[in-house]
Amino acid sequence: MEITTVGVVGLGTMGAGIAQVCVQAGVDTVGREVTQELAERGRSTIERYLARGVEKGRLTQDDMDAALGRLTLTTDLGDLAGCELVIEAIVEQVEAKRELFAALDQIVSPEAILATNTSALSVTEIAAATPRPERVVGMHFFNPAPVMPLVEVVRTELTDPAVHDAAYEFAKRIGKEPIRCSDTPGFVVNRVLIPVLNDCVRVLDEAGVTPEDLDRAMLHGTRWPIGPCALIDLIGVDIHVHASEALWESLREPRMAPPPRLVAMAKAGLLGRKTGRGFYTYEG
Ligand SMILES: NC(=O)c1ccc[n+]([C@@H]2O[C@H](COP(=O)([O-])OP(=O)(O)OC[C@H]3O[C@@H](n4cnc5c(N)ncnc54)[C@H](O)[C@@H]3O)[C@@H](O)[C@H]2O)c1
Repeated sequence: MEITTVGVVGLGTMGAGIAQVCVQAGVDTVGREVTQELAERGRSTIERYLARGVEKGRLTQDDMDAALGRLTLTTDLGDLAGCELVIEAIVEQVEAKRELFAALDQIVSPEAILATNTSALSVTEIAAATPRPERVVGMHFFNPAPVMPLVEVVRTELTDPAVHDAAYEFAKRIGKEPIRCSDTPGFVVNRVLIPVLNDCVRVLDEAGVTPEDLDRAMLHGTRWPIGPCALIDLIGVDIHVHASEALWESLREPRMAPPPRLVAMAKAGLLGRKTGRGFYTYEG
């Protein structure tokens, strides 16, 4: 089945970015939020990013207008009936996602593909809330979705290989660099990155090194493009702690558990760039 219209459920940080990628790639997109106000906020985010692109000469005003023209907003899940693919990007809570998938199953056509952007939950568990687990995949975009090329396209034991392929091809069509993988905790990138970043934070205390020096060490000793402390600030300390806890719960490997220093930072509201202070302090 050709994918001509995509639904994006949740237009927060990730959903707005995913919807932007879709409309910029020429795909008609229906964005669903819980209130009209939140839906409009999602559209403003997209508009702001596109306008910045126009200022910098990355796209023309006409391209921007055409992209925005492909975006429809709704609070009614029923308006997703005509979508051949729905990408869910709501809160990271399994019950909320399962409820949504069960409702979507009743609305979209039997051939439609349902995708979740979850970072740390089981795609299999979400798929099991529907009678069509063979048509459910994970499509794990990275933040910010319009900038980061990778999409992990996740299959469960029950995913139809043709559905997995269709999701992979769609990610390519919208200009992404997809990879195929199975539904395992953390998928690929987080499974590798989270324990490494946790090790880095533990080394701060063990080796008596400052965040600045640790970042410089990884930049100049391994040519990492960004230091680990700066990266955690960018990801968000709360997001990193949450993902670490999820991996720790599923794998019980000590390296996955969030280091106490990060848990304390999260509790203190030192969340990184988004709150202006994490390992570093940010202006404005
Ligand atoms: N933030 C990241 O770095 C990141 C990266 C990759 C994946 N993810 C995953 O993406 C998902 C969304 O994360 P986020 O950071 O964008 O969260 P967010 O809180 O910024 O956005 C979630 C949005 O979903 C809306 N929402 C909640 N329930 C809804 C429903 N039933 N229908 C429609 N909208 C609903 C909320 O109003 C909110 O605007 C989560 O599963 C998260 O784990 C996040």
